[in-house]
Amino acid sequence: MNRALGVCYYPEHWPEEWWETDAARMREAGLTWVRIGEFAWSRMEPEPGRFDWDWLDRAIATLRGAGLKVVLGTPTATPPRWMLERHPDMLAVDAEGRPRGFGSRRHYDFSHAGYRAECARIVEALARRYGREVQAWQTDNEYACHDTVLSYSPAALAAFREWLARRYQSPQALNRAWGNVFWSMEYASFDEIGLPNLTVTEANPAHRMAFRRFASEQVASFNRLQAEIIRRHSDAPVAHNFMGRITDFDHWAVGADLEIAAWDSYPLGFLSDRLEFPPEHRRRFVRQGDPDFQAFHHDLYRAVGRGRWWIMEQQPGPVNWAPWNPDPLPGMARLWAWEAFAHGAEAVCFFRWRQAPFAQEQMHAGLLRPDSEPAPALAEAAQVAREIADMPETGTGRSPVALVFDYESAWAWSIQPQGRDFDYFRLVFAWYRSLRRLGLSIDIIPPDTADLSAWRVVLAPGVATLPPAFLSALGRHEGHALVGPRANSKTAEFAIPVPLPPNLPGLEATVARVESLPPDIPVPLEAGGQVLHWREKVEGSAEVVERFDDGWPAILRHGRLRYLAGWPDDEALDRILGTLADEAGLAVERMPEGLRQRDGTTHRFWFNYNAVPVEWRGITIPPAGVHWAPLDP
Ligand code: GAL
Repeated sequence: MNRALGVCYYPEHWPEEWWETDAARMREAGLTWVRIGEFAWSRMEPEPGRFDWDWLDRAIATLRGAGLKVVLGTPTATPPRWMLERHPDMLAVDAEGRPRGFGSRRHYDFSHAGYRAECARIVEALARRYGREVQAWQTDNEYACHDTVLSYSPAALAAFREWLARRYQSPQALNRAWGNVFWSMEYASFDEIGLPNLTVTEANPAHRMAFRRFASEQVASFNRLQAEIIRRHSDAPVAHNFMGRITDFDHWAVGADLEIAAWDSYPLGFLSDRLEFPPEHRRRFVRQGDPDFQAFHHDLYRAVGRGRWWIMEQQPGPVNWAPWNPDPLPGMARLWAWEAFAHGAEAVCFFRWRQAPFAQEQMHAGLLRPDSEPAPALAEAAQVAREIADMPETGTGRSPVALVFDYESAWAWSIQPQGRDFDYFRLVFAWYRSLRRLGLSIDIIPPDTADLSAWRVVLAPGVATLPPAFLSALGRHEGHALVGPRANSKTAEFAIPVPLPPNLPGLEATVARVESLPPDIPVPLEAGGQVLHWREKVEGSAEVVERFDDGWPAILRHGRLRYLAGWPDDEALDRILGTLADEAGLAVERMPEGLRQRDGTTHRFWFNYNAVPVEWRGITIPPAGVHWAPLDP
C-alpha cells in the first residue's frame, strides 16, 4: 500500500506566474498529490458550449511537470450563473417551498433531468480531454453538504412519482404498504401523491421513508452517471469526498460506484459544530478534536471504499465555518495525518494550499498564508512526508470487532425518534467510543453483510430493519453478538412487525413495550451504570443475563447472541462491551483519557489527543504525540 500526502489547489485563484513556484514548493514539502478543478466550471466553460481548456492544460502540465500527481474534480457542485438562464427550475427547493438561490454553491437539484444532462456534458468533455493526463478523479464535491439531498421541487416531485410507480406498481399496493387507510390518506393514482412537506401535522412515516430512499437513490445515480462517463475515457480511480456525520444518503450505495472512498476531516470544526459533548470535554479537546470522531470515519470509509480510502481534505489550521474556530495545538496536523495512515489511508490531502484573501473562505487557513509565507501546518506536513518515507509499510489491520452502520436506520429514527434524543449516529458512535476506550481496533460493516465469520464480536445497535442476509449470517455466527436496542423493530415499509421484534435467530424474546425518557431520568442497571433515553420491556423464555433495578430484563441471550433492551450510558457500555470482549478472548486494555491505540498489520500506533503528556506502559507520549511499535508476530 502506498502512503502519500497531497494538497487541494485552485490554480484559477492565482496568477499563472505563481503556479510553477507553488508546484515546486509542494514537492519540496514532500507532497505528491494535488487536487484541482472541482469548483472551476465558470472558467472551464465561460459561456454555454464555449470551453476554455488552455489554462487547465497549462495548470495540469505545470503540476505534473513538477512531479505531482493530479486528482481532477468534476465541477458539478458549482454550476455557473448562465446555467440558471438555461434551466431556471434547476434549483433545489427547501421544505418550506423556497428555492435555494445562486451565489454560493451546491445550488442544484439531483432530480433535474436538464441539469443532469449538463453534468454529463461537462464530465464527458473533461474525461475525454484529461482521461489519460490525470491520476485520479473526484466526482462533484461533498454530496449532501449544506443540506442539499432533500429537495421539494417540481423536478423532485415528478421523479418521486415515477420512483413510486416502479417500486409499488399500483396505488392500491402503495396504500396497503403505507397503511393509507389511516386518516383517509388513500390515493387513486400516483399523480395524486405529493412530497411529504407542508402537511398540517406529520406526514405518514412510510411516505417520509420512501422519500428518503428515493432521494438517496438520486444521489447514487447522479454519482454513477459521472463515474460511468469517466471510466469510458480513463483508467484512473474515481473517488468522492464524503463528510463527517452526514447520513442523508446511503454512502454504501455511492461507494459501490467508486474505486476510492475519501472524506474531508475537520476535527476542530466537528468538535465545535457536530458533536454533543459536555463542556469539560470540549474544553479539554478544543485544539485537538474529539479522540474518536476521526477514527470512526476512517473505519467507516475504509469499508465504504472496500479497503481503498483517502482523506481528501485535512484541516490545516483554523477553519471559518464552525461556531468557534481555534488554532490547532502544534503537532495535531501531523497526528491527524498519521492517524489516517494507521487506519489504512492511501493519501492525506490538506485543504488548502494557500489561504484565499477573498470570498467566503478568506478566514480559512491553508498550508500557506495569504502572503505566501508558510503557515504552521506546512512544516508538520513536511515532517509527515519524511516520516512516511522512512516508516515501513504497515497495511490496514483487520479488527476482531465489527460494528454495523446503517443509513436507513438514521432516516428511520430521525423520522420517528419517539423520544427527542434518539439519534442513530449518536447511538452507534457511543458504542464505537466505548470500544476505543477498551483499546480495541474496530471494523465498520454494512447492514447487509452476509458473512460474519471474520469477526469474533459483532455489534448492531439500533438497526431498524435487519436484512435477511444479516439475520441468517447471525444465525450461523460462531462468535459473540450484541444487538439492540430497537433492533429489527420496523418492517421495510415502516410498520411494526408481527410477530413483534426483535425476531432474532433462536432468541425467544418479544419486545412487549418501549418507553423513551428525558435525559435526566435514567434507569439504573443492577450490575452498574444505567440506561438513558430509551428502554424496552422484553418478555419470553430467553435467558436473562442482567436486569434493570426494577426487575425488567436488560440483556437476554441465546448462546452467544445477546439482545440489549436499552441505551446504556458510558459506564454501562464499557462494562457490557468489556465483558463481551473478555468472553470472546480479546485483549482489552483500558486507555487513559485522550490516548487511543490502533493496530495496523505490522505495527500498533498510539495517538495522544491530550494537551498534556501521557504515560503509557513505561513510555511518555508528548501532547499531540504519535508513537508506534511493531506488533508481536
Ligand atoms: C469542505 C469543502 C471545501 C471547503 C472546506 C472548508 O466542506 O469540501 O470546499 O469549503 O469544507 O473547510
